[in-house]
Amino acid sequence: MKNVETQLRENRAWAEEVFSKIDRKYNAVTLRSRDKLPYGVDENGIHIDTIERNRRSWWTNGFWGGLNWILYAYTKNEEYKTTAKRSEELLRPVADEYGRLDHDVGFVWHMTFGADYRLTGDKTAKNIDLYMAALLASRFVLASKVPGGFIRAWNGKRGTDWNNYDRTIIDCMMNLPLLYWASDVTDDDRFARIARAHADVSLRDHLREDGSVNHIVDHDRETGALKETFAGQGYSVGSSWSRGCSWAVYGFALSYRHTGEERYLEAAKRAADYFIDCVKGDWLPRVDFRAPEEPVLYDSTAGACAACGLIELAKILPEGEGEKYLDAALHLLRAMEEKFCDFDPANDHLLDYGTERYPAEISPEGYKKAGVHMSIIYGDYFYVEAILKLLGAEFDPW
Ligand code: GLY
Repeated sequence: MKNVETQLRENRAWAEEVFSKIDRKYNAVTLRSRDKLPYGVDENGIHIDTIERNRRSWWTNGFWGGLNWILYAYTKNEEYKTTAKRSEELLRPVADEYGRLDHDVGFVWHMTFGADYRLTGDKTAKNIDLYMAALLASRFVLASKVPGGFIRAWNGKRGTDWNNYDRTIIDCMMNLPLLYWASDVTDDDRFARIARAHADVSLRDHLREDGSVNHIVDHDRETGALKETFAGQGYSVGSSWSRGCSWAVYGFALSYRHTGEERYLEAAKRAADYFIDCVKGDWLPRVDFRAPEEPVLYDSTAGACAACGLIELAKILPEGEGEKYLDAALHLLRAMEEKFCDFDPANDHLLDYGTERYPAEISPEGYKKAGVHMSIIYGDYFYVEAILKLLGAEFDPW
């Protein structure tokens, strides 16, 4: 297999062409959707605004700002920056609603306010992101009988036994960069210690031996031990939800980026090897790698996020090891370009065939309504980040 440099060089013209279509599209969309926090699109290809749907605090609401920040960082087009800043104004009221903030503060705030600070030096943005890091750190459940603990994903419901909500979720690996960053800027490793403790529990309880993942795990508060696993997303308990696998690929690679700990690199490789085995062939990720073969249901968001993690691995690993990860990322991105991408500037979305919720009891006519085969903002975000990574972009929000 050709080495990483050669693969990058040989695919550069293609990546540049794809990026020019992306840039042309978002030159229009960034103006049209400036006053929204977009999620998917309606039947006319127009962004659906989570604010209108009364979901201003939804976990995906940092991706639009994040997308505009990475486009700004690469192109220096001020329109992207204006939209990213506007998305922060729209998000800002959520910071005042403690009960609506959970472990996903990493996704929401670090991709927007955190990116803003790192790109522009805005001190207010830095402070807000630090508050969010403090809030994420405060979700840490310290086991009483063993060293360590974990970051609890959600808030319990009032009137229920809150101790029944000591659940972790593989997705949280993507929220840890907020904590690593907070330690760097405050020169205080308390945040990073919490991130590592959580990453260790995720490695032990979420990542399975074969590289697939448990989506949701309930823990014993005293020992931190795994009590029960839940399907959460995915066909069933023990199946293999592809977006969860992609969170593991990229999430562990990012923990390695920030800590240099070999065990996270090994974890990312294990998850990546599994992911590649499951998609090689047509390179179009199914929504669950252990679901029945029919009907064929895709999740483009899993492919886009995994591609970012695979490129990250390719760039970190020494010659002889990284090649296969870049090769796989290129196969994924090219297959998705052909089957899933919509570059028409008249439509607000970039990727189709994302699956928001699975399983879903529906017929093909009702797929989109049920959250299957739709566009989702984080799919668009990761596809753009992956193409920018191929082009050597220096900034990403993680
Ligand atoms: N973080 C929730 C999901 O990936 O669906």
